[in-house]
Parts: sequence; structure tokens; C-alpha cells
Amino acid sequence: MHPPVFRTRITELFGIRHPILAGGLMWLSDASYVAAVVRAGGMAFLTPRSFPGPGAFARELVRCRELCDGLPFGVNLNVSRVENHNLHLDEWLDLSLRAGVRHFETVGRAPGDLIHRIHEAGGLAIHKCPLLRHALNAERAGADAITIIGREAGGHPGNAELSSFVVAPMAARSLRVPLVIGGGIGSGDGVLAALAAGAEGVLLGSRLLAAEEVWAHPAYKARIVAAEHDSSVLTFSGTHPMGAWRVLENEAAREVLRREAAGARSYEEFADLVGGTKSRDHAYRNGEVERGMLSCGPAAAFTGAVEPMETIIDTLMAEAVAAGRRLSRLGAMDPVDA
Ligand SMILES: Cc1cc2nc3c(=O)[nH]c(=O)nc-3n(C[C@H](O)[C@H](O)[C@H](O)COP(=O)(O)O)c2cc1C
Repeated sequence: MHPPVFRTRITELFGIRHPILAGGLMWLSDASYVAAVVRAGGMAFLTPRSFPGPGAFARELVRCRELCDGLPFGVNLNVSRVENHNLHLDEWLDLSLRAGVRHFETVGRAPGDLIHRIHEAGGLAIHKCPLLRHALNAERAGADAITIIGREAGGHPGNAELSSFVVAPMAARSLRVPLVIGGGIGSGDGVLAALAAGAEGVLLGSRLLAAEEVWAHPAYKARIVAAEHDSSVLTFSGTHPMGAWRVLENEAAREVLRREAAGARSYEEFADLVGGTKSRDHAYRNGEVERGMLSCGPAAAFTGAVEPMETIIDTLMAEAVAAGRRLSRLGAMDPVDA
């Protein structure tokens, strides 16, 4: 395992070796993924929604605790805009707390109550959002740290209009709590750049999709390994109740874009392409990568092979160190003589 290189308020807060967080991944954030990140020196979050019910989620918490060798791990709690998607939120929090989880990635609107309950139980909440305005609100509501995701982020970058690296220095100037930046980061150079921009950690998603410990089908991982800089597209900009959705550019995504261009707007007009378990069943389980909307951003292009999570994270850290050396050789620390 790569020795620790950076000590930041994020590494201190989470008690982790590297300033690397792995975001919740719908259908894919199971115990194997989370524990692989944790054992490699980062922090990751289970997604309760990925399990068929609270009982299955509770069993996954037990499995995760066993796989984490006593190290802490996290849970992602997403306050959905769709009210009946939040029915299990309290139960997920209770089950997590009872399983000893104290690290939460919160997402969505008005997280104040959730953060309050997490604090009452002695936990901490890092709130993930796309806009600086939302970040400041979450900080006021008590969030212990903030993740801001830029428009490049795989999944739902919400209303994000700006790139991660535009937002990072602005947010770092405005927030008092530690900042994590996510979206488009898949290399160690990117990690160093985020830290230089004022972030104290990075959040990754797309770069980790082909990790050995991710349960998805080999054909899906092969598609991620083959991804290039333009292999993702932003769908539903302004037309979906969930906001924009950055996905792998496949047949389903192209059809969504075609229907949007033709004026389709209501959920029903896209339901055959986007609904429920399609991505899980077609792509992740069966390897039919042209079917289902598959959250993914351009950072997948940094993936060169299916590798163990520890190799991915060690490589990121080694690259960050090399990028730091390159900068110091440029004389970045000293004024250049005129
Ligand atoms: C396959 C996939 C599924 C995701 N599912 C969720 C989710 O369920 N909840 C969530 O908060 N974020 C989700 N995200 C977003 C990630 O947690 C993270 O914010 C994002 O991937 C970071 O940007 P990047 O993909 O450019 O690294 C998902 C991302 C991907 C790639």
C-alpha cells in the first residue's frame, strides 16, 4: 500500500491514509466495493437504495463490517426530490448507526434534519452538492465537510453548470469546513490539482468502475476500460425531475437524446429506457452495455485495465507525487528571476 503523502482536514476527519473518497454508486456500492476502498486507504459509502429492502441492507452492513477489518466505512443517504423515495431514509440511518457506521455522505435538498440526527449519534456528514450556494446552506445546516461536484461528474451532477476545477478555488475561498471536489478526476495529477485549488480531498466514481472488486459483468468493465474522453454524454439537461444525468454514451443514451431533441419531456416518454432496475439487469448483471442508462463520466477514460482497487489508489498517489515533483522542478515554489 502506498505510504501516506498528504495530511489534510479530510484525512483527519475520516481517519484515512489518503485524501480519497469514493462516492456512492447506485447498484454497485456494495460491501466489496466499499471495503476495497477502505482497505486501500480511502473512504467509501454503501448505497442503501441498491438493496431490495432494509433487511438486505442490514445484511450488507454486517458483510461490510467483516470485510473492512475493523476500519470505519460510510453510508450514502440521498434525500430524493421524489417524496415516496424517502420512505426508508430514517430506517437506513438507524440500521447504519446500529451497525456502528458514523461516516455519512448526504445528498439532496434540505439535509439539516438528517445532519442533526447524525450528529446526535456522534457521526459526521459530508454533504455532496453541485452548487456553491447549496454548499453554503449545508455548511450552515451543520455539515462537517462539503463535496462539490462539477458538470463532468458521472451520475447526476444536478444543476451544476461549471467544471469542478472552476468551482474548487471559489468554494475553497468561501467555505470554512473542509472541501472535497469531485467530477472528472481519474489521475494523480488531477488529485494534486484539486489539492492545489484548495480542496482537501477528492471524490471519485467513474475511475473506479472497472475495479476488480466491483461486481459488474466483465463486458461492462471492458467497455469502461475502452472509454475515451468523449465516451460520456449529458442527458436530461433541464428535462428530467432528477436534473441532468451524465451517462456512458450507448444506444439507450443516444435514444434519450433523440427523444429530448424531438421534444419529449415527461417521465413516461422515457420510462422504457431509464426505469428502475434496467441498468442493473441489462448492463451490470448481463453485460448488455448498449441497454440501460449507465452513470459514467469522462474520468472513466483514465482506466487502462481491470485492476484491484488498491492498485488504482496506489497509482493515483504515485502519480500525485510525481506531479508534485514535476511542479517543483518547474520552480513553482520560487519566484522566477525576471
Ligand atoms: C455508476 C455510478 C452510480 C452513481 N450512483 C450514485 C448514487 O446512487 N448516489 C450518489 O450520491 N451519487 C452517485 N453517483 C455519483 C458518484 O457518487 C460521484 O459523485 C461521481 O461519480 C463523481 O464524479 P466522477 O464520476 O467524475 O468521478 C454515481 C456515479 C456513478 C458513476
